[in-house]
Amino acid sequence: MTKKVVFTEKENYPKQFVSHLVKDKFIELESSEELRLRIYPITDHIIRLRYSIEGYFMSDFSYALDENFKPEMPEYSIEETTDEFVIKTNAVQCVVSKENFKITFKSANGKILSEEEKGFHWEKNETYGGHIVQNSKVLQENESFYGLGDKPTDLNLKKKKFVNWGTDEYGYHKDTDPLYKSIPIYYALNNNGAYGIFFDNTFKSHFDFGSERANVTSFWAQGGEMNYYFITGPNLMDACKRYTKLTGVAEMPPMWALGYQQCKWSYYPEDQVLDIANKMRELKIPCDAIYLDIDYMDGFRCFTWDKEKFPDPKGMVANLKSIGFQTMVIIDPGIKKDKNYSIFKEGLENDYFCKRIDGHYVEGKVWPGDCYFPDFTKPEVREWWAGLYKEIIEEVGIAGVWNDMNEPALFEVESKTFPLDVLHDYDGHQTGHRKAHNIYGMQMARATAEGVKKFRNGQRTLIITRSGYSGMQRYSSVWTGDNIATFEHLWIADVQAQRLAISGVSFCGSDIGGFISQPTPELMIRWIQLGIFHPFCRVHSSGDHGDQEPWSFGEECLNIFRKYVELRYQLLPYIYTSFYQYYNEGTPMIRPLVFIDQEDKQTHNRDNEFLCGDHILICPIIKEKATTSKVYLPKGEWYHYWTNKSYSGAKEYDIDTPIDQMPIFIKVGAIIPKYPVQQYVGEQNIDTITLDVYYKDGREVSYLYEDDKNSFSYEKGEFIYAKFDFRSNQNEVSILQTRTGNYNSNIKNVKLNCIGFPSEITTIKVDGVDVDKEALISSTFTEIIINGLS
Ligand code: GLC
Repeated sequence: MTKKVVFTEKENYPKQFVSHLVKDKFIELESSEELRLRIYPITDHIIRLRYSIEGYFMSDFSYALDENFKPEMPEYSIEETTDEFVIKTNAVQCVVSKENFKITFKSANGKILSEEEKGFHWEKNETYGGHIVQNSKVLQENESFYGLGDKPTDLNLKKKKFVNWGTDEYGYHKDTDPLYKSIPIYYALNNNGAYGIFFDNTFKSHFDFGSERANVTSFWAQGGEMNYYFITGPNLMDACKRYTKLTGVAEMPPMWALGYQQCKWSYYPEDQVLDIANKMRELKIPCDAIYLDIDYMDGFRCFTWDKEKFPDPKGMVANLKSIGFQTMVIIDPGIKKDKNYSIFKEGLENDYFCKRIDGHYVEGKVWPGDCYFPDFTKPEVREWWAGLYKEIIEEVGIAGVWNDMNEPALFEVESKTFPLDVLHDYDGHQTGHRKAHNIYGMQMARATAEGVKKFRNGQRTLIITRSGYSGMQRYSSVWTGDNIATFEHLWIADVQAQRLAISGVSFCGSDIGGFISQPTPELMIRWIQLGIFHPFCRVHSSGDHGDQEPWSFGEECLNIFRKYVELRYQLLPYIYTSFYQYYNEGTPMIRPLVFIDQEDKQTHNRDNEFLCGDHILICPIIKEKATTSKVYLPKGEWYHYWTNKSYSGAKEYDIDTPIDQMPIFIKVGAIIPKYPVQQYVGEQNIDTITLDVYYKDGREVSYLYEDDKNSFSYEKGEFIYAKFDFRSNQNEVSILQTRTGNYNSNIKNVKLNCIGFPSEITTIKVDGVDVDKEALISSTFTEIIINGLS
């Protein structure tokens, strides 16, 4: 039984139940003072709750939800007793108390997952109208918490509290809050299982996981509705996939977007950009993209060029392309207030800029000086913005776009952003900045993605955004903003990528080496060792503190840097396959240990190691001068990537970490597909792939995804998804392959690289025919039998 709760004078709460209604999509319960609760069974595992305090609901509109997500309308039952209503799907029970509307969620077998303390309650918002809508739940025994996007803190959020309000935080630190992104999904794990709560409310929102009161978790928002989705697991991983499917996934990126990328604020003039690119080739550092930061523009006017620094953008882009580089440019939301600037004029003439409540434009200083800002929440404005990309994409040949400062960030004002009285269209649901702030950046990225895509002639693109809300991953990848070149920030980058990935945003990465300050050679090495395992892999720096190209830190650093970037390029088919699993199933590409084995309590507070894809475990070195490092291996058997030595999991080890070795472990039974090293994606016409086959006493399944790496034909089935089923018994190993999809792959052969086999291999049979150990095997094989194990 929960303790009797005491409400403050300002707090209001639901009273006695009076009636209920069953509609197509929801069950509605009404209380004596006209409060209404709608319960929507969305799928067997997802139940949505919405409350209306005064009897009428706001219009049901969300930027977060993916329109491709189709509610299953699951079978459910409703039971009414004297005290309760119980709504049951096959996977979850939602129990509502008739006395006070308090909710308890239980698993299908009746175990309590979550129960309410004060439950839903609210305070009148005297300043703005509406209510501060709040919910508090009992912190369950042994409960841990994960999620919430880009928070730079320990992976387990227990005993901490947070705010979601997109903020430009130059040089943030551990525990700085809020940062750029607002992603109101958290997961909880307790003795009875795991669940997620997605609080789809875009106002400034707050989460407390036992910080103010040790036994209470709560979440609340400064306005809008109490509107949340309860997502059951019973595993964290399942809850995460369900949330990700609800809010959507990224499209497959062009494979080059998973290559290494080089950026600085700013490379100019044109010759310098070409020099950097040429030097990459000369020193054989594989690299796929180079970036132009704000100085390419004419006085920071978006969609213009500084013709002195860049006299021939089209020629430069073509030159870069000829040596395998894609060119990326930055675009910010602030449009310079300049009556001679055509985009400013168009914005004014068509009423595209955000205005304040009295009809005045919102004006703010950013890089170009005084600016006006498009209202990206208006469809017509997004369409205009999309159209502005025509020239740079179609004419100049820019491959992708980086959106920055879109919190929106303003200089010289304490709030760092718009005043709250700015109005937004909100796709026809007119509102103020209090509600639109957290989704502004995401709508900018959306307009950018639509525009760039439109002019890419059927080729995929890469969009990057700094700010965003749940669902932003449908339009864009992200980076983690203005970090610092310190070992603490290396750890922050590690945790942020894990947290973003479980919050639906797998396509993420940090400014490798740190944006502010210059890294030591050691830090640069340790950062690239981690960075190659993040889906978005880019070096970026402010340029104020020295160079940050791979060759800027001496010979040793250059060689180790190259070794790791080469490893990234070898692993591209593996990383691309993980991307496909994210795209197809919502599986995060980066997985914290607790999402792998939640039964093992050791994993609940570990935040250094993570799994990249299905089979590669990474342990970044986050301490200076570390010659050994403690690595926790989850249950199962693992191979040390550099020595091939095997280790048993559910145990911590001291692993040697000489400067050229970051601990990488491969799960036994894994089949890891590898390309030869290329200097950029598409440099070679690869017809043979290596399969690193890691022996296991037992069975393990691995996958390989392929498509044409650049067009959208995969959406029409032009891909191959190969499943490799590894089994060992007595004296032989078999690998069975099944392939789905319909793509005529360039990869005709595979080469086996057998690792950890107990004795020398004597024969290999491919589909019944003996072949030499070193032979190239047709990539479409059905069965390989490896003999000779003793
Ligand atoms: C912001 C961005 C940074 C960029 C700079 C100049 O600080 O976060 O990445 O280089 O602006 O555009």
